[in-house]
Amino acid sequence: MTPRESSVLTHLLLLIFLLLLLPVAPSVLHPPHLPTLVPHAPTPLTRSRFSARTQLDFTTHCNSTCLHRGELEEPREQLAQKLSFETLYADGSRTLTTVDVEEDGLGGEPPSYPSPRRGSGLRPRRRRVRRQIYGADGRFNIQGDNFLLDYPFSTAVRISTGCTGVLVSQQHVLTAAHCVHDGKDYVNGARKLRVGFLIPPSLNATNGTLASSKKPLVRWVRVKRTRVPKGWIQGPQEVSMDFDYALLELRWPHRRPFMRLSVAPSSDDLAGKRIHFSGFDSDRPGELVYRFCPVEEESSDLIYQHCDARPGASGSGVYGRVWDDGLERWERKVIGIFSGHQWLEIDGENRDYNVAVRITPLKFAQICYWVHGNRLDCIQD
Ligand SMILES: *[C@@H]1O[C@H](CO)[C@@H](O)[C@H](O)[C@H]1NC(C)=O
Ligand SMILES: *[C@@H]1O[C@H](CO)[C@@H](O)[C@H](O)[C@H]1NC(C)=O
Ligand SMILES: *[C@@H]1O[C@H](CO)[C@@H](O)[C@H](O)[C@H]1NC(C)=O
Repeated sequence: MTPRESSVLTHLLLLIFLLLLLPVAPSVLHPPHLPTLVPHAPTPLTRSRFSARTQLDFTTHCNSTCLHRGELEEPREQLAQKLSFETLYADGSRTLTTVDVEEDGLGGEPPSYPSPRRGSGLRPRRRRVRRQIYGADGRFNIQGDNFLLDYPFSTAVRISTGCTGVLVSQQHVLTAAHCVHDGKDYVNGARKLRVGFLIPPSLNATNGTLASSKKPLVRWVRVKRTRVPKGWIQGPQEVSMDFDYALLELRWPHRRPFMRLSVAPSSDDLAGKRIHFSGFDSDRPGELVYRFCPVEEESSDLIYQHCDARPGASGSGVYGRVWDDGLERWERKVIGIFSGHQWLEIDGENRDYNVAVRITPLKFAQICYWVHGNRLDCIQD
């Protein structure tokens, strides 16, 4: 072999090596790019009138324009306006906090969102019948002390206006915005908002077996502060499901385990492409109901699925198992909030879905700021 031949061979081997590497490289997980919110000093607002009525059954309509809206780059001022937020205090007073959005200085890349998968396994439906239970009812009642007090079911809490919430810190509960505000005003029940923790009945009873057939008891805790994004409080415009989330701060810390939040990955990065949630569906009063199902469609802001659910499940923490780089294992993380029902009109055809709001990088930054009250704790997912 001449030196020249051997150099060609080396190059060839190098090329083959690089080609072999190629398919591997994209699957290396990068931590999600997290923008930061820079909040300004809160300004006082007039007291809320609490004139709205709680409407648990939340339905919206969307067509292809609205489905792909989130993929367009939105002007930063508009984005900042939607991520500004109101704080409601227990005495009925309110403040408005405006924010600036800052991409981090690392690469200047815009946050990447997975594009929605279209036409995947969608079958035309002939009749326009609204369904919240799809096929056989796939929901399970969670019963027995062990299950009710066991993670992850123990992270589901009741909201006094009739919804569900999820414990996301020692003192914070994430729920749907429509459980406390109708887009124009706070609902009447938000005046004395409380969060309910289930207590298995037999913990308090002497007659074990008799008692455990009873429904769980509830211990109620007052809410000190409620945060609602301005993207939900839109005034004259129609409310958008994209901002159907609110954070409640309890008067006292609770002592139960909570579930961490995560930026919602593409459904391909969820174990089994599945989401799960537990809530207090209104057709099963007093019971905690669990279900899981695959993600069917996703837009930049919403998760479309056919998990069976009834209105009381609004505000449930939607979680999936996501790969945790630090712990090197699959972990359950809250990646969305169950909102309600949506008619999706594509090519003149109406399809119905149950819908969850996705925790996008910006929403993660916002909710994280609400929980921690500073930006430093919110740099990483
Ligand atoms: C979707 O609906 C909006 C109004 O609701 C309309 O302006 C728009 O043209 C519609 N898009 C399509 C593709 O039909
Ligand atoms: C437990 O039972 C006692 C007596 O039966 C009752 O007075 C008490 O209120 C119960 N506790 C709760 C949290 O329901
Ligand atoms: C427990 O059961 C006995 C009979 O089995 C009944 O007489 C008693 O009232 C029960 N006590 C409670 C607290 O339910």
